[in-house]
Amino acid sequence: MLDAASKAFFHTLAGSRVLARVASRYGMAGPDAFARRFVAGESVGEAIAAVRSLEAQGLQSTLDVLGESVSTLAEADAATREYLSVMDAIVAAGIGRNLSLKLTQLGLDIDRATCIDNLRRILDRAQAHAFFVRIDMESSAYTQVTLDVFETLWSQGYRQVGVVLQSALRRSEQDATALVAMGARIRLVKGAYNEPAGVAYQNKADVDAAYARLTRLLLSHATFPAIGTHDPAMIAVAREHAAAHAIGPERFEFQMLYGIRRDLQAALHGEGFGMRVYIPFGTHWFPYFMRRLGERPANVGFVLRGVLHER
Ligand code: FDA
Repeated sequence: MLDAASKAFFHTLAGSRVLARVASRYGMAGPDAFARRFVAGESVGEAIAAVRSLEAQGLQSTLDVLGESVSTLAEADAATREYLSVMDAIVAAGIGRNLSLKLTQLGLDIDRATCIDNLRRILDRAQAHAFFVRIDMESSAYTQVTLDVFETLWSQGYRQVGVVLQSALRRSEQDATALVAMGARIRLVKGAYNEPAGVAYQNKADVDAAYARLTRLLLSHATFPAIGTHDPAMIAVAREHAAAHAIGPERFEFQMLYGIRRDLQAALHGEGFGMRVYIPFGTHWFPYFMRRLGERPANVGFVLRGVLHER
């Protein structure tokens, strides 16, 4: 995890249209292109191939059609229809039925009611075909509205849907208590966004301490929590707490991002833990990719080597 200043630097770069254009030209062109380390490809066929390869190793997946912050209702409708067609492709392929999505992709910035309608279209299909749909958590500007949308759908009886909490946010322990009481399924992560000190811890030690507290809370009290981290120290906290309280591996799962700590993914699966890999794909991969770079300086070297190699 980088300090706040470095994270902010990468978030600024992520907003650069010029950089996005240059990266889009090289990042996915060819089987060895640099963005492929973290993004399964631009097409659903490539994503399904990635799922199959992980499933052959005993790992599970959740598919994310990359996209966020759409600015018209037509784009939100297109994103919704894309999710529906990806669901058809997943059913036809016979692979695991698990999706992750972002509410700003479904129109949250434009009209909340339309966003809820779009999500409902996806959840109706999910219900009919036994999918689980995770609502990713975006920056703190969206935390409350994301939880509100989740609770609206929960109160309408949708149950094959879950949310994400970020340990970096000071409010998350309170949110966790409320969500646990509802029986909601929660994925716990540290948080990928550059957040102000008023709402978020700024030091890794504080984010980690909150992650550890939340891990223990969720393991003991939540419905099938997902421990989403690549951090061996956090994984150790989860394992120790589960062992000390006789919480079996059937009551929770670990989750990691595609292309990150593949060794640890395989090792945890080998020890009998559930391991789900978050597989992003699609043409709008640039902001996601920049967040991954911002998490680890070594990734920048990895990309530069890839770019120089291609030339
Ligand atoms: P930390 O950043 O401390 O890293 C620990 C170790 O993991 C590093 O030392 C390194 O070895 C490895 N590592 C971490 N990131 C790496 C990278 N990019 N490249 C290479 N190695 C890396 N965030 C969010 O705000 N909303 C969300 O909805 C989600 N969803 C989500 C789903 C899943 C399944 C995961 C695993 C993560 C997310 N995240 C997320 C991202 C999350 O908030 C966080 O930014 C990253 O997981 C990195 O944090 P770690 O917990 O891995 O710890």
